[in-house]
Amino acid sequence: MQRGVVGIVLAAGLGTRMKSSRAKVLHEVFGRSLVGRVVDNVKSLRPTGILVVVGYDRDKVIRSLSGRVKFVWQKKQLGTGHALRVSERVLKGFRGNLFIVPGDMPLLCAETLRRFMTSHSKHRLSLSVLSARMKDPAGYGRIVRDKAGCLIAIREELDATASERMIHEVNTGIYCVDAVLCFRLLRGIGAKNKKKEFYLTDLVDLAHRHGFRIEAFPLAGEEEALGINDRSGIMQAHRVIRMRVLSGLMKNGVTIVDPETTWIADGARVGRDTTIHPFTYIEHGVRIGKHCEIGPFSKIRSGSTIKDGSAIGSFVEVVRSSVGKRTRIKHLSYIGDAAIGDDVNVGAGTITANFDGKKKSKTTIGSRALIGSDTVLVAPVSVGKGARTGAGCVVTKKHNVRAGDTVVGVPARSIKNDRRRKR
Ligand code: UD1
Ligand code: CA
Repeated sequence: MQRGVVGIVLAAGLGTRMKSSRAKVLHEVFGRSLVGRVVDNVKSLRPTGILVVVGYDRDKVIRSLSGRVKFVWQKKQLGTGHALRVSERVLKGFRGNLFIVPGDMPLLCAETLRRFMTSHSKHRLSLSVLSARMKDPAGYGRIVRDKAGCLIAIREELDATASERMIHEVNTGIYCVDAVLCFRLLRGIGAKNKKKEFYLTDLVDLAHRHGFRIEAFPLAGEEEALGINDRSGIMQAHRVIRMRVLSGLMKNGVTIVDPETTWIADGARVGRDTTIHPFTYIEHGVRIGKHCEIGPFSKIRSGSTIKDGSAIGSFVEVVRSSVGKRTRIKHLSYIGDAAIGDDVNVGAGTITANFDGKKKSKTTIGSRALIGSDTVLVAPVSVGKGARTGAGCVVTKKHNVRAGDTVVGVPARSIKNDRRRKR
């Protein structure tokens, strides 16, 4: 007999309203899938286990998730209640609570989920629902309460009466429920509704009628409750996460000149006294140090680190690269798979040609090097410490430039011709 909490993430649906060949939960917000975000949130609650219900595009959903997560296959998507039913066989003998979260809610904060679970245990409930008050409740199931304000049912919009549709308190689709009770009650639910699906929401009505202790806890705001059903939902999620990230950075001492045109993914780090100029796009996992100037019009992609005091300027793209301290890449450059040292000046129009049509290769630029405007560095190649490249030169594959040397032309050749110089 096992106790504790098992998180169940519902991710089997196609998501028809998305109008996509890809499962809805695989659509991304800032480079991370909806279901990946939900699973990470559930993980942070340290449950005994996590079970993801997969169906449509199941192989891709499974591949997209890593680490201690189990899967159960819902062959036919007959509704959220049915998704729970198929989970029963995997959870045989489990005597704890189920924490159920839809795979399409990327804006929930782990802290909110934690508080919800604490309320559930504190009030010794059999079933809790996380609700939200929505200005526009359209599309959500409505929380139906009796005159005393006690939760009695959840009504899906399609099945709701005109007066029930006036209710602004909605179901977020998140529940905490005693596992044994849940599976027992699920046997009693049917598909007598407009969609002809087995609704998980019918649990509430059943639990109420059987006299179990149930409650709905409303969220403080409505933002976190956004369930993504279509492309406009994805856009809204981007907007919310973007503003959360920017506010957080500003609180920590980063200047964001124009939040309206700045895109920084969650999971990117930016140090104090760095200024982010307009039209800058920074991806997940990027690290930027203190006192840097980024943008306007810079794109810094995943796998990149920019150290203290550096400047990345207009129309510069950096990907999978490290840029040392006080290095300047100010105009019109592509820096891919490169390691650049400290105090380097990368001239306007410099390109690291990292892809030969088959594979990507690395470029290394030593500290204090001076890369002339319009230099092409064909990887794999390295430019030594303090070396210089002339404007418009092409440093070809494996023709490494020695420390302190100066090369010019196409293909680049040394003009110093000083072979005795130390490397
Ligand atoms: C559901 C709730 C609704 C709530 C809303 C919150 C039901 C019947 N309704 O409606 O009360 O207000 O969420 O966003 O539960 N899924 C499966 N298997 C299925 C069907 C769905 O795994 O057979 C998964 C989907 O992949 C999705 C989640 O369950 O991640 C929710 O399904 P969705 O169709 O989006 O439910 P809603 O209509 O939004
Ligand atoms: Ca939904």
